Amino acid sequence: MSLLIKNGKVYQNHGLLKKNIFIKEDKITKITSQELKADKTIDAKNKIIIPGLIDGHVHFREPGQTHKEDFLTGSMAAAAGGITTILDMPNTLPPTTNLQRLDEKRRLARKSIVNYGFHFGSTTDNTAEIQKVKNVASVKVYMEYTTGDLKIDNNEVLQKIFSNTRISAVHAENEQILNAISMIKNTNNDIYFCHISSKEELYYCKKEKIKNNIYVEVTPHHLFMTAKDLNNLGSLAEMKPHLKTEKDQKALWEGISNGKVNAIATDHAPHTKEEKLEVNYPYGVPGCETMLPLLLNAVNEKKLTLKRMVQLCCENPSGIFKIKNKGFVKEGFDADLSIIDLELEKEVKNDELFTKCRWSPFDGWKLKGWPVTTIVNGNIVFENGKINKVGAREVSYYE
Ligand code: NCD
Ligand code: ZN
Repeated sequence: MSLLIKNGKVYQNHGLLKKNIFIKEDKITKITSQELKADKTIDAKNKIIIPGLIDGHVHFREPGQTHKEDFLTGSMAAAAGGITTILDMPNTLPPTTNLQRLDEKRRLARKSIVNYGFHFGSTTDNTAEIQKVKNVASVKVYMEYTTGDLKIDNNEVLQKIFSNTRISAVHAENEQILNAISMIKNTNNDIYFCHISSKEELYYCKKEKIKNNIYVEVTPHHLFMTAKDLNNLGSLAEMKPHLKTEKDQKALWEGISNGKVNAIATDHAPHTKEEKLEVNYPYGVPGCETMLPLLLNAVNEKKLTLKRMVQLCCENPSGIFKIKNKGFVKEGFDADLSIIDLELEKEVKNDELFTKCRWSPFDGWKLKGWPVTTIVNGNIVFENGKINKVGAREVSYYE
């Protein structure tokens, strides 16, 4: 099978060029001004082709909580949101903390229509598993309480985990960040702070220059909402870390401009509306379908450049987790692409969502700039609001 995307503007080498993209099987084989013949052609006139987004932080709930989401529905939401690769978190039921459970999750993930990878879970006593695990994005470390039961607060154990993995993805809040940095310094490994949400946290992350790489992830909900939104949304807008003040939100946007923020990821954490409205509601909000439209709307509002967006959502996640052959529109790279329409204005509507939980804290938001077509491994998996179910595959990593 070959596919030609013609007449669009291609995001390449940090700029936009009017070029055609020729795809053969699952690879981008030519980016050219010529019009080559292909089995199928997409006319991308007035559209831009960017690398498919790599969402480094999702909870697709499989196994164990498939009434909230599963790899098919979660990946459909991702595809509709221009995301072509997701990295799934380990706080499933049971949690992904040993090799056998990871294999089981690998089997379940085969129905995903976007490419996928896994963060491996850590516990107080699974260092032997961590040492053996292969082909994972990171080891996730929960230093703070959240959905699931994986919190670790013993420094000796934490140090052992940080020492045994190339990169840890850490849920730490407030001073826990300083504690994590003091431990990573004793190793030659890197650390990725998930969902940094406040001015102070961002300051803690980048305060000290150390030999290790310290990466900062922020989420769309912290960039586009504040604690004020709790007035309207109530528990629907409760997540970990909590929504913060406008001052904090401003600091995150500054971090995006000045380079202190390294990645944007959704922390897609679906729960049913019923669960969210219970007295003991769970934390988390879905986000795969809304991240790219929110960011493109911000591009239209000049809060962000397209270049920075592509760095934070495509190039950097592939670099940080060392994902092979993705994150760039480049000859020889995987044909994982998002075709976007910066002029398209549309409202986020709960009943149009593909996530199984079918609600969004951004319901009713009018946004300008939407993904219109998503291509994964050379297959069109989302086009004109419709999903085409083609199985995708697990990513691999550079050593
Ligand atoms: C996440 C979940 O529900 O799995 N919840 C959340 O509020 N973010 C867990 C997490 O990432 O902390
Ligand atoms: Zn999360």
